[in-house]
Amino acid sequence: MEQYVIKGGSPLVGEVEIAGAKNAALPIISAAIMTDETVTLENLPDVNDVNVLLESIAGIGAHVERVDRHTVKINGSTIRDCSVEYEYIKKIRASYYLLGALLGKYNNASVPLPGGCNIGSRPIDQHLKGFRAIGVEIEINHGTIEAKCRMMRGAHIFMDIVSVGATINIMMAASRASGRTIIENAAKEPHVVDVANFLNSMGANIKGAGTDVIRITGVPVFHGCTYPIVPDMIEAGTFMMAAAATKGDVVVKNVIPKHLEAISAKLTEIGCEIEESDDSVRVVATKRLNRTQVKTQPYPGFPTDMQPQMSVVLALSQGTSIVTEGIFENRFKYVDELTRMGANIKVEGTTAIIDGVKTYNGARVSSPDLRAGAALVIAGLQAEGFTVIDDIGYILRGYEDFDGKLRSLGAEIRKVRSEKEIERFEFSAG
Ligand code: UD1
Repeated sequence: MEQYVIKGGSPLVGEVEIAGAKNAALPIISAAIMTDETVTLENLPDVNDVNVLLESIAGIGAHVERVDRHTVKINGSTIRDCSVEYEYIKKIRASYYLLGALLGKYNNASVPLPGGCNIGSRPIDQHLKGFRAIGVEIEINHGTIEAKCRMMRGAHIFMDIVSVGATINIMMAASRASGRTIIENAAKEPHVVDVANFLNSMGANIKGAGTDVIRITGVPVFHGCTYPIVPDMIEAGTFMMAAAATKGDVVVKNVIPKHLEAISAKLTEIGCEIEESDDSVRVVATKRLNRTQVKTQPYPGFPTDMQPQMSVVLALSQGTSIVTEGIFENRFKYVDELTRMGANIKVEGTTAIIDGVKTYNGARVSSPDLRAGAALVIAGLQAEGFTVIDDIGYILRGYEDFDGKLRSLGAEIRKVRSEKEIERFEFSAG
């Protein structure tokens, strides 16, 4: 089992290059099988979730060729099977995007129901409601969603809640339905827009992505294309928070500053200096930061995937901050771990009341999920002494070379596999 060991206390200083967005890459890889021609995807993040999904489409017969670390060619003409193995879906929930993609291409898909997840119960009723609206028959047999239809017909769909996954899944299937589909109360996240742009590059006719009404006119066939994945706003935001927590000075490069506005606004409000240019954001923190309140909301609100990292910064800020989780009910699991590092946080339902402390103390902690794991790394970078983080498999699902990028900013962090390696690191870091 891999772990991170960190010696805290150094401010992060320098420049860091942000990878492509995992949450755009996953649906785009799924959608790439919707044509029999070759699709070349660029700026793909080299993270475990992406690599598992590539294996999963190869598992149903697609041809996958890695051109280099960030480029892959996918050809879906050799797909023999519309049934996705449970082995993949249990590793990444986002394999459920293959439902929309396979339905769109073959009118037929069989995908095991994704299980629960550490951040709360995650139903997929809105995905299924959308598929049914466009004429898909769905049965759940022995834990597997069996979806099929003779022909999908466009429909007017009103989503009961704003869901990134459901919006994308329905958009993919409907882009090949006959006639017009309108998705109302759609999610507006940058990765929803990126998937729509990608589908349009393959020949789809989708308008309005990025607003809450998406209009799709189905087309009978897609063609190949070359497409670069949008930069990862959550990876970017994580480095911005690491700069703030360590009183650093970091230029986060290869980003779309507009996507980071909710994050930049909160950091400015608590006392960071933020400088934006065309494709980078610089975060400078020179003094102890101030309190604030944050509520996570669908885009363009403050992202739920940044809530743990923001809380780690606020737990060091002067005064009492209030953080309310508005999307997932179980996203404060890291609080117990952070408390062991000296934080003063009380959770009541979906609200955390945070009394800022001056510093964290290094401790041995466990990563409860992907973003919470990244947040604990940030705490370790600020902490006095050594921090060891267990269960970093979660972090590796979504951050490319996290420790390498942090080291390039001056952090003392190593990925290790044994107590001996931890001792060696502690000895050499003094
Ligand atoms: C995606 C992101 C995840 C992010 C989340 C919210 C990926 C792979 N994951 O997850 O990192 O935290 O968006 O920005 O892109 N819901 C239902 N029924 C449904 C679908 C969702 O009740 O059919 C609920 C969920 O439980 C949650 C809320 O809607 O409370 C939002 O979930 P959703 O936007 O669907 O999140 P994901 O697409 O799963």
